[in-house]
Amino acid sequence: MTTQLFGKEDIQQAGEILRKGGLVAIPTETVYGLAANALDPQAVKKIFAAKGRPADNPLIAHIHDFAQLAGLVKQVPEAAKQLAKAFWPGPLTMILEKADIVPLETTGGQETVAVRFPAHPLAQAVIQAAGTPLAAPSANSSGKPSPTSFSHVVEDLSGKIDAILDGGDCPVGLESTVISLTGKTPRVLRPGGITVEALRQVLGQVDVDPAVEKGLALGAKASSPGMKYRHYAPGCPLEILDASPEEFSGYVNQKAKEMPGIAALCFRETIPHLQVPFFCYGGRYDSQEQAKLLFSALHQIDRLGAARVYAQQPARAGMGLAVYNRLIRAAGFQKVCLPGPTVVGLIGPSGAGKSTVAAELAKLGCHVVDCDQLTRRSDVYDSGCIAQLCQAFGDSVAPNGILNRRELAARAFSSPEGKQLLEKITFPPILRQIRQELEGKTGVVLLDAPTLFEAGLDSICRRILAVSAPEPERLARILKRDSLSQAQVLQRFRAQYPEEFYTCRADWIITNAPGQNITAQVKTVMAELQAGGRV
Ligand code: TXA
Ligand code: MG
Repeated sequence: MTTQLFGKEDIQQAGEILRKGGLVAIPTETVYGLAANALDPQAVKKIFAAKGRPADNPLIAHIHDFAQLAGLVKQVPEAAKQLAKAFWPGPLTMILEKADIVPLETTGGQETVAVRFPAHPLAQAVIQAAGTPLAAPSANSSGKPSPTSFSHVVEDLSGKIDAILDGGDCPVGLESTVISLTGKTPRVLRPGGITVEALRQVLGQVDVDPAVEKGLALGAKASSPGMKYRHYAPGCPLEILDASPEEFSGYVNQKAKEMPGIAALCFRETIPHLQVPFFCYGGRYDSQEQAKLLFSALHQIDRLGAARVYAQQPARAGMGLAVYNRLIRAAGFQKVCLPGPTVVGLIGPSGAGKSTVAAELAKLGCHVVDCDQLTRRSDVYDSGCIAQLCQAFGDSVAPNGILNRRELAARAFSSPEGKQLLEKITFPPILRQIRQELEGKTGVVLLDAPTLFEAGLDSICRRILAVSAPEPERLARILKRDSLSQAQVLQRFRAQYPEEFYTCRADWIITNAPGQNITAQVKTVMAELQAGGRV
């Protein structure tokens, strides 16, 4: 079969092929989909054949108007209306009781049907031109990474389908979130473009199927047949390393000395530290970007080849959960936790209550390294460092070689340049001291460092824990604690990063607002750290 390559001027032709029972790959905002008439069993069977997809793995029916939903399902529950209002058109798929009109071929033999209203204008135009809902799984051979660009589909499915419509790169890059509304509590079966946190804001309680992070337990029944199958795998072994960025590059560089063909699937920040070929999948703290780039990076691994790839583990908050879900499947659930303590960086704006959280964690057996206290120790700065300080800020900061911290602070903090210079001189010995402190430690170590990012200390952290509290609450706490005026505190706040800077970098966020139970939140974090969740 010759596969026609379509542009946006060919929408009507695409619609015609679909009406006649053919297959057309179409762009959506998540990934490319392989579309057929969802109500035509013969057309749908062709999808399974072209993809080599097991017949019991159901397809998503795509619509171009909310009103179409009612025709595909027994009834539209209130929760579905709320979700549609909040997230449609968009990367959310809802599972509901199917109407008789939907053939069992489409639903893999189930009495439920998955429905999505995609946001991509070309996808909407094709569905409209076809005049019928379109069944569309990701447009890739079963088991392979999903396609996020036109060329991915052309490489994989040319000769097997009628046409491929070029819509450029997919902006989200990972498939839609699949939520089942058929049980008592809404349940996420596959995390995706809409985060669990966002779903909870609309629905309140939302469960996450345990198979999302861990795969199916032996002998367990899959809530979604897609959970059973090998997925997204590149052609070579891929293993996730549970490690800090520094541990990751150290381990991978060492492995490369022992065997040829080692490559890294890593975050951008790690690239300068690697001595091996790498595939980058975004910034460490940008899970949207990771989502957008992951499948492309997996395709690239296939194109360029490697004997074995080690992947850096993403944080699992927000969109990160979807990234992790795809990566752990691509790795066939192969994950290695490097030896050494799990170092957790503690961050948050002043007054959020970092010390309170640290104290609670300490009670649960976590070792706390208080970096502020550590920098006040007399042995932290050696004579070389003190000489550098004198050269930068004048001999008065260390008369007779003995550091006068008050004088140093007065001089260094008088200008932003002074502060920068101070940090440049003092961060290396502080880091040395922290490393000493970590030596021989096991279990969970909390790094309470007010300048975690500025000092580059996040590169030795495997996880980040943020503490957050509303600004008025933080203001009240500081006024009570320090002898500062309200104006001074507010000025201090303005000089700091905004709260989102911290929360978007965190694996967990502890909310320390009135009425919130800190102890319970800390316990959850510690339990997850110890059990391997978000670990
Ligand atoms: O973003 C997306 O959802 C993309 C684009 C093309 O829309 N489509 C997509 O389809 O990812 P697919 O077939 O690759 O994944 C559909 C997932 C599978 O894991 C399948 O098992 C699950 O949804 N699913 C579909 N219908 C279901 C049902 N009735 N019950 C449980 N799971 C279902
Ligand atoms: Mg798929």
